[in-house]
Amino acid sequence: MIRGVIFDLDGVLVSTDELHYQAWKHLAEELGIMDFSRKDNERQRGVSRMASLEIVLEKGAKEYTEEEKIALAEKKNDYYKRSLQALSPADVLPGAKEALEMLRQRGILTAVGSASKNAPEILERIGLIPLLDKISCGLDTTKSKPDPEVFLVAAKKLGLSPESCLVVEDAAAGIQAAKAGGMKALAVGPLYQQLGGDFAARDLSAVESWDEIL
Ligand code: BG6
Ligand code: MG
Repeated sequence: MIRGVIFDLDGVLVSTDELHYQAWKHLAEELGIMDFSRKDNERQRGVSRMASLEIVLEKGAKEYTEEEKIALAEKKNDYYKRSLQALSPADVLPGAKEALEMLRQRGILTAVGSASKNAPEILERIGLIPLLDKISCGLDTTKSKPDPEVFLVAAKKLGLSPESCLVVEDAAAGIQAAKAGGMKALAVGPLYQQLGGDFAARDLSAVESWDEIL
């Protein structure tokens, strides 16, 4: 019996991947890395900011100190945050708001489980804060998915056991994280059929039977 649903943010409730990509590309080009591609960006999905920076830097030849890396990650974050200013409730992905409303009506708790340290700001901008009980994000964790930490923190904040939580994810690492944490997983997004979720749907508007999942 599911008593709580934990939603990944990017690719599930909203899509800011393109904004991440543009910000990393901007930084890469400043560093003389002209061939940072969307394919490289795919590998940054669900990965922490510092681990994402490593994916950029491996395309170049230069070595950086830890301090320099922190400054570079901050620079990328500034570019990214500037682009977040354009986000609005119109950017909520299909079916997401309706799913959150339906769950609340059924008395099921909801949380976000996201690697992003910007999750609270993004949720504020897209207007979903009132529909969420808790947020677990990069500010609460030290380990990236597929480690289950971010989802275990979310379950704990909700006051629920992992076994009574369902995770909604669009990335393979996120589905693995849910399973490693002992949670059921609903896979969504362009790769939904290949992610190995217990349940799968193109997006949150296409879930066939919430009754079956819950
Ligand atoms: C995830 C994104 O949601 O958050 C990753 O999929 C990103 O691409 C990660 O690196 C960390 O985000 P932030 O906002 O803390 O830099
Ligand atoms: Mg995601």
